[in-house]
Amino acid sequence: MSQENILKVENLVMHFGGIKALNDVTFNIKRGSVSALIGPNGAGKTTVFNCLTGFYKATGGNIMLSANGKDTSVIKVLGEPFKATDFISPVAFLKRLKYKMFGGSHLVNRAGLSRTFQNIRLFKEMSVVENLLVAQHMRVNRNLLAGILNTPSYQQSEEEALERAFYWLGVVDLTEFANRLAGELSYGQQRRLEIARAMCTNPEIICLDEPAAGLNPSETEALTKMIRVLRDQHNTTVLLIEHDMGMVMDISDYIVVLDHGEVIAKGNPDEIKNNPKVIAAYLGAEEGEEVTL
Ligand SMILES: Nc1ncnc2c1ncn2[C@@H]1O[C@H](COP(=O)(O)OP(=O)(O)OP(=O)(O)O)[C@@H](O)[C@H]1O
Ligand SMILES: [Mg+2]
Repeated sequence: MSQENILKVENLVMHFGGIKALNDVTFNIKRGSVSALIGPNGAGKTTVFNCLTGFYKATGGNIMLSANGKDTSVIKVLGEPFKATDFISPVAFLKRLKYKMFGGSHLVNRAGLSRTFQNIRLFKEMSVVENLLVAQHMRVNRNLLAGILNTPSYQQSEEEALERAFYWLGVVDLTEFANRLAGELSYGQQRRLEIARAMCTNPEIICLDEPAAGLNPSETEALTKMIRVLRDQHNTTVLLIEHDMGMVMDISDYIVVLDHGEVIAKGNPDEIKNNPKVIAAYLGAEEGEEVTL
């Protein structure tokens, strides 16, 4: 895959029983860009994220992630369906079973992609900093024996995890809340903590599902700045789902529009704003309401 595109989504299909949530969704995301996935409620945006991040295994199509120095087929990484030969080798069988039981989102994360959720998913009874340490469990040396013996390499990896946690708390302006319970933070602060948590795994691409939902205008402005920092100072590609059109048009280099599970437009903000199909999709979704894109 070319180095230009960090993500290539080809003919993605996702069916839930009889519901065709995604139909032939195709788009590319350029490395180093801020891109937005927009569309009316129920268009399939979160479903695309769930497929990209390994929460769902797509019914069909291809997702290629070019990060951490290699190309990863997200769908392959999640494991093929059981084959007759798996039953011959106990190792192959157990590996397949593990992915079937626990999903493969950690494998996609390890390949360089992380995400936040439309409905905040933090450990609310844990402290802010603990949330960031838990997120790093895959990177940190968790060898049980090393832990019991408290070896120097174990201590060092624990320290690095703590340093990384405080680094990202600083970026999202939450350092002073490090020891508070995550559940005690305001909504806007919890959203920022989710971004810090996703960044703690050192992703090359971060997928944000409605990061501005529920934020007031000044929080949204701060978020916009933060997303630019991720792109410009941390070389992180950002893909966001967002309903706040002001923010989307302001921040995005590229926009993909979904409606009823299909891509109806792709382009830069000016092209999208003036696209009659996009305007009709939004007008149709909220009949009678004035729509300014
Ligand atoms: N796990 C699931 N089981 C069955 N149907 C699902 C599932 N997840 C999503 N869907 C359906 O897929 C369609 C797309 O849903 P999705 O959540 O992706 O929309 P969305 O664009 O993110 O909408 P919103 O802007 O409201 O968040 C909807 O019809 C939804 O009901
Ligand atoms: Mg959604």
